[in-house]
Amino acid sequence: GTGTGAGSESGEKSLLDEIKERGYMTFATDGAYPPMEFPDPENPSELIGFDIDLGKAIAEKLGVEHRAVVVDWDGILAGLESGRYDVVMSSMNITEERQKSADFVQYFEMGQMIVVAKGNPKGIHSLDDLKGKVIAVQIGTTNEEIARGIEGATVKTFQTFPDALKEVHVGRADATILDEPVARYYANIEGDKYEFVGEPFERAPVGIAVAKGNEDLVQAIQKALDELKQDGTYDQIYAKWFGG
Ligand code: ARG
Repeated sequence: GTGTGAGSESGEKSLLDEIKERGYMTFATDGAYPPMEFPDPENPSELIGFDIDLGKAIAEKLGVEHRAVVVDWDGILAGLESGRYDVVMSSMNITEERQKSADFVQYFEMGQMIVVAKGNPKGIHSLDDLKGKVIAVQIGTTNEEIARGIEGATVKTFQTFPDALKEVHVGRADATILDEPVARYYANIEGDKYEFVGEPFERAPVGIAVAKGNEDLVQAIQKALDELKQDGTYDQIYAKWFGG
């Protein structure tokens, strides 16, 4: 047929059935976004983080195993469309543009923050102060979008956020724009190198992306998430990674 989503045609096995049959569900992530998804310092071949724990809990509700698939961020939705994995769960904001290629189940909400080198050498206190400055961001993110909207700014893009941050640390960029939990994480554990300035902005929903045409999988994930919120698991995972 001409349908793109697996199992979108009647009579075919749905993606949800396929996942249940094979006994695991694949979750795409770029894997370099603490505290959301990042290598376990104790055991670097394993990913840990908020998205990983919540993904595991969702998989468990569906009665299957969780498998993380690490992919480049800038091709992550294309890979979903071509069926390389079942979902994307990687702190992805739900945007109109992305909703053209995938369906989303919202599981979180967050803003963005400006992060600068320790000591704030350029005296940056707001988005306004970024006019004409050099901003390093991860390519293909909503953070890049914000940076592109700043008058006179030079925007340098990187495949991962740690690379963008390094650019700030070595002084080749004046600032980066990061999702709030990630900004707080770095300012906390690498407080000798970075600090965040001002208040979070652009608070927006974050979702699990499912390729179009898999309504049953979307509904199963939504139901699992509702249950996890009801039985306290969601709050437990939240507290583990973000405190109280
Ligand atoms: N929240 C931003 C976006 O949706 C950035 C997400 C980047 N995620 C990651 N795992 N590196 O575009």
